[in-house]
Amino acid sequence: MAEEVKKIKVTIDNITIDVPMGTTILQAARLIGGDVVPPAMCYYSKLQGSGGKCRTCLVEVSKGSEADPRPMPKLVASCRTGVMDGMEVKNMTSPRVEDARNGVVEFLLLNHPLDCPICDQAGECHLQDLGYEHGKEGTRYEFKRRTFDKHDLGPYIQLHMTRCILCYRCVYTADQLTDKRVHGVLSRGDHSEIATHIEKSLDNNFIGNVIDVCPVGALTDKTFRFKNRVWFTKPMSAHRECKCCSGKVTLWQRGEEVLRVTARKDQWGEVEEWICNECRFEKKNTADWIIEGPTQVNRHSVISQGHYEQVVKPTETFSAVHGGRKPKLLMDIHSVSEVNDPSVDLSLINGPATGEVFNHPTKTQE
Ligand code: SF4
Ligand code: FES
Repeated sequence: MAEEVKKIKVTIDNITIDVPMGTTILQAARLIGGDVVPPAMCYYSKLQGSGGKCRTCLVEVSKGSEADPRPMPKLVASCRTGVMDGMEVKNMTSPRVEDARNGVVEFLLLNHPLDCPICDQAGECHLQDLGYEHGKEGTRYEFKRRTFDKHDLGPYIQLHMTRCILCYRCVYTADQLTDKRVHGVLSRGDHSEIATHIEKSLDNNFIGNVIDVCPVGALTDKTFRFKNRVWFTKPMSAHRECKCCSGKVTLWQRGEEVLRVTARKDQWGEVEEWICNECRFEKKNTADWIIEGPTQVNRHSVISQGHYEQVVKPTETFSAVHGGRKPKLLMDIHSVSEVNDPSVDLSLINGPATGEVFNHPTKTQE
């Protein structure tokens, strides 16, 4: 008979829960859910050894345990700190945590470019979300931002090293999905970079997963690049028979076109099951997939603004009050934007949809 795991009590933001011995504060907070859960930019439950790098998950331990009720003097990383019986933790109820998180976000943004308007991760970037919640409008940083030599990661993956926050998730992903250990972070301090090592693992059939684990826009899908904003696409759960992976994915569609394929993610933004490169990059036809239905999107996500389940189209009030006449002076963006031109088949453009290839969908971007 399996040995019963001892349960212990932990209180986070005044909510008490029983959790198994060995649970971390972050995992316990996730069991409670809602606003109690600290943000996590580097921890990833599917990756061994992750966590402890970014400090966004800092919390205050106001009571160590029943046996030793002294508070912990410093804020601790909730992803790396185990709970003790009777422990009391403050996350959103602690002004110290709020202040520290503001500082961590300012630190993460020291070198991170504010290029959200042209970044394909916009709308699903964890740093962007944190920036909205904790960011300041200015920076105190006076030095030049980091620059790096460009690294070409082949036809599928785009690396923007300047956006990297060195969370190590891609390093662990590449390391744990390949046989040889060829990954790591090179150099020290603000010269640190992940590029060279990722290049060495490109021939792995699961390397595309580094795109999904990256919390920012440092690693993005080249086959989706510049083709659309994620909140204009409709995510659909779909699957196919695949010899390499589960074949369970999310399709990001525009009309019937498949613009991007990603792994399915859970409520914490973590991949549920790794998918192979063939499913991710080479199956861009709806016919390749068995569509299950619309993917549930968190209503706080900007992606949910285009949610289309049980949509009731509102009545067009302008023409109703103007005896059926259509507005003449208002520009309809949908009729003037080339992106919405149905004759342009974005999914047929092999690489990024730059101006050079936009009107020649069969031409591939070098
Ligand atoms: S490229 Fe992305 S996943 Fe990799 S270390 Fe940088 S931020 Fe993390
Ligand atoms: S999520 Fe805990 S330190 Fe990054």
